[in-house]
Amino acid sequence: MSGRVVLGVSGGIAAYKSVEVLRLLQRHGCSVRVIMTRHAAEFVHPRTFAVLSGHAVEVDQWQRGAEPGVDHVELSHWADLLLVAPATANILSKMAAGVADDALTTYHLAHRRQLLVAPAMNTIMWRQPAVRQAVATLKERSAEVVEPGTGELACGDEGEGRLATPEAIVHRVLSMLPRRGPLAGVRVLVTAGPTREAVDLVRVLTNRSSGRMGTALASVAFGLGADVTLIHGPMQAPLPLGVESVRVESAADMGDELERRLDGVDVALLAAAVADLRPAEIVPGKLDRRDGDMSLALAPVPDLAAAVGARPRRPYLVIFAAEAGLLADRARAKMHAKGADAVVLNDVSAAGIGMEAADNEAWLIAASGSEHHLPRADKEEIARGILLGLSGELLAHRARR
Ligand SMILES: Cc1cc2nc3c(=O)[nH]c(=O)nc-3n(C[C@H](O)[C@H](O)[C@H](O)COP(=O)(O)O)c2cc1C
Repeated sequence: MSGRVVLGVSGGIAAYKSVEVLRLLQRHGCSVRVIMTRHAAEFVHPRTFAVLSGHAVEVDQWQRGAEPGVDHVELSHWADLLLVAPATANILSKMAAGVADDALTTYHLAHRRQLLVAPAMNTIMWRQPAVRQAVATLKERSAEVVEPGTGELACGDEGEGRLATPEAIVHRVLSMLPRRGPLAGVRVLVTAGPTREAVDLVRVLTNRSSGRMGTALASVAFGLGADVTLIHGPMQAPLPLGVESVRVESAADMGDELERRLDGVDVALLAAAVADLRPAEIVPGKLDRRDGDMSLALAPVPDLAAAVGARPRRPYLVIFAAEAGLLADRARAKMHAKGADAVVLNDVSAAGIGMEAADNEAWLIAASGSEHHLPRADKEEIARGILLGLSGELLAHRARR
């Protein structure tokens, strides 16, 4: 990811949260330049943004003396996106009216590409017809809005108007930025986490998958420029920002979502630990230990990987084999049986790697005959090894489709 973002900070109490927005954007590979209003500088010192962004921060275009400041026209050639966060009632109204009386509003009029605003204000201000009209006008001009959340406001009131979380703001920014990198234009679908099969109203059959391998694959593929969809079961791992994520519960739900979303997908990486088995019947209500028969009849769930492998014009299919031991022949057989193009084998019996761990070690085996060992590393590194190791093959597969 190499997005170029101008972060406009206006004078609301939530201005301090923009520091976190800046850090998160940088952590996701974006370069950020900051412009503040004079009122924003009453809340957070511009030096904080200058030090963190590594660039001068424009606040007052007239008070810089003989020093040339930020050239807003030049900046507009550089920027992919203008994010105003927090956006006060005042700045929204000024932008809607086309006012250009300070550095931020002047830059807004010089800006050429996408605009995203994250409003934050007291509920009464947010509901004012003048503010509603300003937001509607900006939307009509194809600005996007990260709607404010509901909760306790800085003024002590409870209601709508709270700045969206830094994660929600950065998620929107990343999803709007142009996709650049070796996988630009490639549509990738990843599955992650465990599935959960109902036993009765409250109990489930599941497994220890944390979802970290799948989320790492989704996040690295996104960083390499791909358009990524993540279908995931109930899991602890945080969702990768920028990626479209769909939560499912059972293996059957995951199968339905795959079916719905596979058209046009170039690469499917099925990293979810899908339950192989489910209770043959879901007990209505709640099983009681006084009920007598305590045995649970199980039934196999449909094989999702094999279903993808059997599709006409299937995507380049990567499956995952978690084996107790390094059973390369078993993994190869599994790959051929399911019609996959590659298998990632890892040894779930080895200490410190695999299912619940942050690290992994894997063997990447492709049907074409190529094999790579990915030495023990964190799951992001392993994901990068998998995607870059297979990129030649998956791009060739895409070109043939
Ligand atoms: C303590 C304090 C907190 C404020 N918080 C907000 C806010 O959260 N949202 C908002 O729209 N205005 C807020 N304001 C009002 C703005 O600072 C004011 O409208 C100002 O003119 C905005 O200027 P700017 O949009 O150029 O930054 C606050 C004012 C003060 C004194």
